[in-house]
Parts: sequence; structure tokens; C-alpha cells
Amino acid sequence: MTTIQQNRKNIPFIKESKGIRKLVMLTAYTSPVANHIDPYVDVILVGDSLGMVIYGFHDTLSVTLDMMIAHGAAVTRSSKQACIIVDMPFGTYQESKSQAFRNAARILSETKASGIKLEGGEEMVETIHFLHKRGIPVMGHIGLMPQKFNISGGFKALGPDQHIVDNIVSEAIALEQSGAFAIVLECVAEVIGRKVTEAVNIPVIGIGASSDCDGQVLVVDDILGMNPDASLKFVKTYASLGKDIQHAAKYYAEEVRSGIFPNKENYFFSKN
Ligand code: KIV
Repeated sequence: MTTIQQNRKNIPFIKESKGIRKLVMLTAYTSPVANHIDPYVDVILVGDSLGMVIYGFHDTLSVTLDMMIAHGAAVTRSSKQACIIVDMPFGTYQESKSQAFRNAARILSETKASGIKLEGGEEMVETIHFLHKRGIPVMGHIGLMPQKFNISGGFKALGPDQHIVDNIVSEAIALEQSGAFAIVLECVAEVIGRKVTEAVNIPVIGIGASSDCDGQVLVVDDILGMNPDASLKFVKTYASLGKDIQHAAKYYAEEVRSGIFPNKENYFFSKN
């Protein structure tokens, strides 16, 4: 039996990409965006950044498991070949290994994604090992961890002090040893991107972590020019969809108000 899942890039493909090809990962949260980006990327991440990008929260802490599952399922339904990874939101995995397993299992069974991502270093090692041994592929996430912004005092880049470098490198090694199949490394000094990538045999996917990483990830709305805060240093914008939307709304409004739209071509059963 052939299924769509079997044609997708899978976890072994991602893992074996280390040293062979650069991995391309983008976030997506909705069906149309997933459909458009799917042919071009290796991994689609349904990130908990959706709390800020889609729902307008100021951070990711209010994102729920049900939100992640609804968006994860939409993205999986509307993509064919990319490996889909869904973020575990704050409070759904930190309490215990069994809490993490129960919620990760829901994500995989209800979204049909191939794996989950969770934030944390040494403190998550036991949980990652527990999930991995029970059939749940885990992508780690270290460096800047947005779910911990209350502890760190904000969304701050890390490094390059030697103790920070050493600490993040040892966290990456611990994640690999616990069974993580890849690691997201967020907003760190260039030296950390290079040292972490050299230190582990699993792919390190960077966001603001230098081109030395094995792959790159960005938030899709940022590369599309949908984010009014275009000042993020690690983002490159490849389109101006925000401006296009404003343009379309402005001209639509003008045409409705002036009676230009709709015209006879837009009518059903109109007499010419
Ligand atoms: O939530 C997210 O979108 C992420 C990426 C920025 C890596 O974690």
C-alpha cells in the first residue's frame, strides 16, 4: 500500500543529511502556505511561533496543544513531500516524561506529523530519551529558547563568552546522546553555531546561528514580508506580501465605494 506519508522526507532522511546537503526548513501554520512552500523545503515546522504570528500574542506561552494540533493537521493535509514537525507548546511537556509522551502521542496521531520539537537542554534529556525509546522522534531546540523568556529577561541572543559556548556545546551533545534526531540552534554567536555543528553527528538547523549550521530555518511570515518589524537581524525578506495585501485591500475598497466592483462579469445569470 502506498500512502502520502511514504513519499515524504522522513526522519532518517533528515538525520542522514548531515554533511551531505544543507537542510531547508520553514515554518507554516496554515493550509495554503503549506501547499505553496511544500515543493521547496525539506522540513515544515509548525512552530509555536504561531502564537505571535497568527494569533497576535506577545509571546508563545499562551499557545495550547489544541492550537498546535489543529494547525499541524492542516499543514500535513496540505503538503505532500516535506517532513512535518510540530512544536510542543509551553506547559505540555516540562512536567514529567509521561505528560510529554501523552501530549506528543496526541500530536503525532492527530496531525500525522513525523516528529515533535521541544525546547530545552540538559533538563530535557531524560524526557527526550523516554520519547525516543517509545517511537516519538524529537527535534531539540537550544540557544535562545522563547518559552523561557521570563527567566532570561527577553528574547536575547547568546554568546560568545567561553562559558556560554561550552554550555551550549555540552547541551547539544547531551541532546544527541538522548536520541534527538536534529537540533534547532537559535540566535547565538557565530562561534557557537560552528562549534555545536562540529560537536554532534545530527543536523544542527540554525536560526540566527551562522551559515556553519547544517541547515537553516526561518519563520515564513518573516521571509514573505508580512512582519511589520522588519528589523530582525537574522531575517532576510524575499517578498513584500504585507504591502501586496494593503494594496489589494485599498483598491478593493476604492472600487466597492465607487461602484466599479462588482461589474456584470462578476454576476450570476446576468443578462448582457
Ligand atoms: O516556533 C518556531 O517557529 C520556532 C522556530 C523559530 C525555530 O521554534
